[in-house]
Amino acid sequence: MADIARVVGETVTLKRSGANYLGLCPFHQEKTPSFSVHATKQFYYCFGCGAKGDVFRFVMEMEKVAFPEAVRRVAQRMGIPVPAPAREEATSPEAKLRKALEEIHEKALGFFRKQLQSPEAAPVRELIRKRGVTDEAAAEFGMGYAPGGGDALARFLSKEGFAPNVLEASGLVLKRDALRRDTGGHVQEYKDRFRGRWMFPIANETGRTIAFAGRALGADQQPKYTNSPETPLYTKSRVLYNLSRAREAIRKANATLLVEGYMDAIAAWQAGVQNVVASCGTALTEQQVHLLTRHAPEVIVSYDPDSAGVTATDRSLGLLLAGGMQVRILRLPGKLDPDQYIRESGAEAYQARVADAQPVFRYLAGRALEIHKGKTPEEKLAALNFVLPYVASVPNKLIRAELAADIAQKMDVSTGLVVEAFRKAAVERRPMVEAPKSGSRIPNAEAMLIRLLLDSEEARQGIGNILEEKGLLEMLESRTIVSTLLGMIAAGEQVPDLASLADRLEEGQQRLLAEVVFDNEAKPVSVEEINTYILALERKQLHRQRLALQRRIQDAHDAQDSRLALALLREQSELDRELANLI
Ligand code: CTP
Ligand code: MN
Repeated sequence: MADIARVVGETVTLKRSGANYLGLCPFHQEKTPSFSVHATKQFYYCFGCGAKGDVFRFVMEMEKVAFPEAVRRVAQRMGIPVPAPAREEATSPEAKLRKALEEIHEKALGFFRKQLQSPEAAPVRELIRKRGVTDEAAAEFGMGYAPGGGDALARFLSKEGFAPNVLEASGLVLKRDALRRDTGGHVQEYKDRFRGRWMFPIANETGRTIAFAGRALGADQQPKYTNSPETPLYTKSRVLYNLSRAREAIRKANATLLVEGYMDAIAAWQAGVQNVVASCGTALTEQQVHLLTRHAPEVIVSYDPDSAGVTATDRSLGLLLAGGMQVRILRLPGKLDPDQYIRESGAEAYQARVADAQPVFRYLAGRALEIHKGKTPEEKLAALNFVLPYVASVPNKLIRAELAADIAQKMDVSTGLVVEAFRKAAVERRPMVEAPKSGSRIPNAEAMLIRLLLDSEEARQGIGNILEEKGLLEMLESRTIVSTLLGMIAAGEQVPDLASLADRLEEGQQRLLAEVVFDNEAKPVSVEEINTYILALERKQLHRQRLALQRRIQDAHDAQDSRLALALLREQSELDRELANLI
């Protein structure tokens, strides 16, 4: 049996919550976890966006693959041997292209790595050594070399059988229109995007290569980095370099170290700070922040100390705070970036700096005073107004108020009207974003009933029939869920599958079902308890019928229809006898 918690746990940090697991939903942006995974029922449900399904659906949606491929991947992760996929799989053209792109990247990775051992790559090997990268790290990070010839990779990939459209879509080769001297006509040729470069594979969260970066070998080669373009596999703004490798360490440290450069990430990793990621040569994006929040609540920003790095830090800070993250800032002394600092001062020195990174309020107060000297009241106000947008972006009001107070104190403006105004602005600036409220709930006894029907074969056999025969389904607020479930059982599903049950329900009902299934307070119920409940239901039903009868008897009296009144009275005494028998 595929363990859903294990598979989901590879991409979502799950915390145990009673019998279930809880984490931040990978399918929508959220700050408080509402993504629930039920290990025994093999079902996930997000109370925020309604995403739901079983382990295969999860893989299909996360990795954008079709069902047969999802099955294969799940099996692979569980260590279950699976036959190779049938040659002609019924998959969409998009899925086919993605699959081909994954394969082409895998091949290209092997190609670049092999080329790093070629005589032509001797200067690259020398460069790698000079930069202090060990052989193990070079292998771990899949470093390679893209030959300078012009079309070595293009030829290799063609020979491997990749079609021209796949070559082009991969972004690894460029199609050129060349003029033929002899005929004056045009021919198309394929050129390598990466020529004469030190290659770094970029992987997605699961460690699959989806893009490359190629570093120049010398100052004369421009630009310093060439990167893969966006492809169906690669969306720059959604990828964090090294995340797949860092995941375990991030979880252990409960924090992520965020650096600017590929080389910084590699150096930090080598220095024993393995919970490190980099943001692929772009300013940090909201999606990357989202990715970070899913793995650990805290981020330590270790950007370059140059002015560009400081500006980037300030900019990233706003996003990280708005994402609800705890933030600490590591400011290295001097002009060295993390990679250079580590080479110069050693791994331990850097580790100590990471441990010592300052809390965000201290950093912000320091920045504010750096920019505005903060002596006169006007300067103090300007300084406070510099930090206010950061403070205001924090979603949680309490944390926001605390941050405002800490900053004010640090800036030595803990008294007076200015700081009062600042605090007020900070607290009122933005309302707290609250998790979506749940609507009506299923009554407790009905919840017990549903759980029992899901869990117990005995209950499914007995209780289902009783409910239907006696017309008790109508009495249930959760009648849609229960009757759908009973329908599945009647249709021959021995053990009703939660994912397919949810599929048959509308969204509102899916949510109610999930609330029942993921209720941690729920105690195990016995068939006896449910029988007592069903008796109560029957009584309630009879009472209702009796009330309706009484109304009709009254009407009959009013209409002076004594024969009808008499017949109805007889019905009533019949009901009363039934009621008495129920006790
Ligand atoms: N970058 C890029 N394209 C460039 C320059 C930089 O994509 N032309 C991105 C890369 O992701 C790079 C990061 O920005 O890793 C930081 O740039 P920089 O500090 O210049 O590079 P380092 O990674 O530090 O590389 P090195 O130490 O080798 O100079
Ligand atoms: Mn550098």
